[in-house]
Amino acid sequence: MFWAAGLLYLGALALAQHDYQRTFAANHGQYNEGLFTPAEDLSILSETEFTTLSHPEFPRYSVRVKKSQFCDETVKSYTGYIDIEARHLFFYFFESRNNPDKDDVIFWTNGGPGCSSSLGLFMELGPCRVLDANGTKFHPESWNSNANIFFVDQPIGVGFSYADYGEVVSTTEEAAKDIAAFVAIFFENFSKFKGRAFHMAGESYGGRYIPVFAAEVYDQNKKLVEAGMTPINLTSIMIGNGITDFYTMIPSYYDMACTPASVAPILDISTCTRMKQTIPRCKKWLKESCVDQLDAISCEAANVFCSQELSAPFFSSTKNPYDISRDCEGEISDTLCYPVTKHISSFLDRADVRSTLGVDPSITANFSSCSNDVGSRFYAKLDEFHPTHHYVSALLDRGVRALIYVGRNDWICNHVGNERWTLEFEWNGHKEFSVLPLREWSVAGKKAGMTRSAKGLTYATIDGAGHMVPYDKPKEALELVNRWLGNQDL
Ligand SMILES: *[C@@H]1O[C@H](CO)[C@@H](O)[C@H](O)[C@H]1NC(C)=O
Ligand SMILES: *[C@@H]1O[C@H](CO)[C@@H](O)[C@H](O)[C@H]1NC(C)=O
Ligand SMILES: *[C@@H]1O[C@H](CO)[C@@H](O)[C@H](O)[C@H]1NC(C)=O
Repeated sequence: MFWAAGLLYLGALALAQHDYQRTFAANHGQYNEGLFTPAEDLSILSETEFTTLSHPEFPRYSVRVKKSQFCDETVKSYTGYIDIEARHLFFYFFESRNNPDKDDVIFWTNGGPGCSSSLGLFMELGPCRVLDANGTKFHPESWNSNANIFFVDQPIGVGFSYADYGEVVSTTEEAAKDIAAFVAIFFENFSKFKGRAFHMAGESYGGRYIPVFAAEVYDQNKKLVEAGMTPINLTSIMIGNGITDFYTMIPSYYDMACTPASVAPILDISTCTRMKQTIPRCKKWLKESCVDQLDAISCEAANVFCSQELSAPFFSSTKNPYDISRDCEGEISDTLCYPVTKHISSFLDRADVRSTLGVDPSITANFSSCSNDVGSRFYAKLDEFHPTHHYVSALLDRGVRALIYVGRNDWICNHVGNERWTLEFEWNGHKEFSVLPLREWSVAGKKAGMTRSAKGLTYATIDGAGHMVPYDKPKEALELVNRWLGNQDL
């Protein structure tokens, strides 16, 4: 979910009236970058207790991992925390249904900022889904069909992740430090996966998270090698309906609401005309205040202006911002337009479920799909207004492949904006990529969407899907991922 755009953009509209409360990042010291000795076969772990794994040389990192036989009876699964000093990141890990000893490893995070990856797990691509009050149901099109996969609640303050002394994370760059430590520790303790091809995937605000996280993991490899450890075999990034470049996304709200880019125009002509006339001013202001250099006050003002002119008209409609082909179900602040999210929260509130998962007993509050506190902190830091596409070019230039896929009916992180930045940004394959026409790609002989691909970068749309592609189009999404993991053309 790109919660920030939906709600914090609206929050931004209220800036003028409210004294917006800013939360500045707490300083956290440098982490000890050290690492770990390998774990043995994890399947010996207990189902009732955590096994604490730690390395004598690095006492401030540890792993509390628990075998949690739930969700997918056909594979080994684990849940637990990776502890980075006083910061505790909760994860779910499922081995592959195919060949855990050979298959690649996928890291998954949802967006927000502030939303739990349990949404991705139980609503979209996990081995089981929680779609009603009856609990988990086996999901045949899970992304662990051909890969080992973990889902992380991040940053701290999201889902079941927490910190001991009120530490907070307010930017993607800070979050990336915890994630890189998490990944290093994970592979040290789940040592049979060491050196395995590793893919970092995310959705929505993941379009900002994933390139920064992957870059941190890539850069960290030098330290791992110096410490005599196996580097992380970072192979690709995958971004679904991402917000990677705000500068192309914001003007595209016009295209989505006022042209047949996905469905027939939904706003009236007079509103659309006004929006169209505003685009040059919005772009100029954003470019001067957020892109060429980031001037916090002016960038925020530009965002308020652009939101009022280009996003607010959409929110006056009844349409679902995550899928303009349908109306929002429930209040967006309550259901995120998808009542299924309520079932997931209720499931994660069950005492027996928390016990199975090994949720830390200090977490007593009701489960919250998305943390407003985390979202507000990122907004106060204008985290979104940082040039994330530079990370994507740097990764591509170093041979890390990138898949940018977009459900075609999403408004909030739409295909128009995503196509624009992928065509415009600078990288060593820009020339080859940007001249390619889109072509159809198919699943089982049926058109699934459009794509172009060159030099390690693939852009693809999925017809009939909104923001959460694997929720709307599970078969197509799995096929997309399988072909990507197999390094095949779509
Ligand atoms: C739960 O499962 C039962 C039995 O399959 C079914 O009758 C019932 O409708 C389900 N409940 C919900 C809320 O879907
Ligand atoms: C990384 O993964 C790729 C793809 O599976 C594999 O070919 C390569 O040998 C791996 N590299 C290392 C250093 O293990
Ligand atoms: C937690 O959820 C339950 C059940 O929905 C509700 O009755 C209770 O008031 C909630 N507690 C808090 C602290 O919000």
